[in-house]
Amino acid sequence: MAGDEQLDRWARAALERLDGGARPPRIGVVGDVILDRFVYGDVDRISPEAPVPVVEVHREVVRLGGAANVAHNLKALGAEVDLLGVVGADSMAAELTAELEARRISPELLVTSPDRPTAVKTRVIARHQQVVRFDRERRGPLPGAVREAFWQRVDQRAGGWDGVIVSDYGKGVVDRGLVERLVGWAAQTGAWVSVDPKPVNVEAYRGANAVTPNTKETEAMAGMPAREDAEAEAAGRALLDRLGLSAVVLTRGERGMTVVEPDRMTHLPTRARDVFDVTGAGDTAIAVFALAKAAGAGVVESAALANVAAGIVVGKLGTATVTRGELEDALGPPP
Ligand SMILES: Nc1ncnc2c1ncn2[C@@H]1O[C@H](COP(=O)(O)OP(=O)(O)OP(=O)(O)O)[C@@H](O)[C@H]1O
Ligand SMILES: [Mg+2]
Repeated sequence: MAGDEQLDRWARAALERLDGGARPPRIGVVGDVILDRFVYGDVDRISPEAPVPVVEVHREVVRLGGAANVAHNLKALGAEVDLLGVVGADSMAAELTAELEARRISPELLVTSPDRPTAVKTRVIARHQQVVRFDRERRGPLPGAVREAFWQRVDQRAGGWDGVIVSDYGKGVVDRGLVERLVGWAAQTGAWVSVDPKPVNVEAYRGANAVTPNTKETEAMAGMPAREDAEAEAAGRALLDRLGLSAVVLTRGERGMTVVEPDRMTHLPTRARDVFDVTGAGDTAIAVFALAKAAGAGVVESAALANVAAGIVVGKLGTATVTRGELEDALGPPP
């Protein structure tokens, strides 16, 4: 178990790399883009139509989710981002586009698939309590023509990437063919391919550099328990060997992270103090990990910075990104 000083030294080393380059790294984010909608209101009565609460809506906001949230996290740290995903031919795609543009992320590389809606998760919240969540999405393989268009976008852009993130929420964009293509490009450019995995697709990730599963995903993919340190190590090692990866970065919620490499195993306890909202912490974690790695930091250094960043983001209500300044403040001056 690394001590606090060692953790900070690693994270600081990674942070310095972010400033070191002649230009910011360019990261490709490939996967499932999602629009998160939050509907806020009050409940004063039960509906006369059915035994359900009536929510009087006061406010609605949308946020970037899934791969779009990963892109947002990268952008907040000054990276150049290419976001490749699939949307429907609908009004939600226009909302997503507007939200991306507001964050200065180009929507131009998104491909429209008329067979499915833009993935939207809507939460209705009254008095700080979620009343219901409804999801509009369609999972399943992309139509052939859409897949072709998607892969063309990859081929157009991948030569310029310093790192690649595959953000797989299991909607159908990510499959073995896509990962093979990305791994093929990465072999030419030296960029790392980091995957936020969905257990059903585990075999698709063979040959990538890193996966960043949470505890549940690790257990599902490795088929063994991963809660305790020794279990997490064994499960991570099993995945590393089976998929031929360079690193497994297990994100373990309040236990921080465990980094498994072929010749090394490192536990990174969390430094988070206040925990308000853990949603999206995994997106922040993979964004910072891949960005630091692309900037030249080592695997453990990059994970240490990602762990700090995720520890900051869980302390925030509503905001899902972390800035350079916040990372610096969290780490303090060098000893
Ligand atoms: N309760 C917590 N306390 C402290 N740190 C946390 C907590 N939950 C998450 N983190 C931080 O966030 C990182 C990622 O969280 P987690 O392992 O829950 O990922 P996840 O389940 O993929 O998240 P997501 O909700 O984005 O899918 C952890 O490695 C840790 O650094
Ligand atoms: Mg996750």
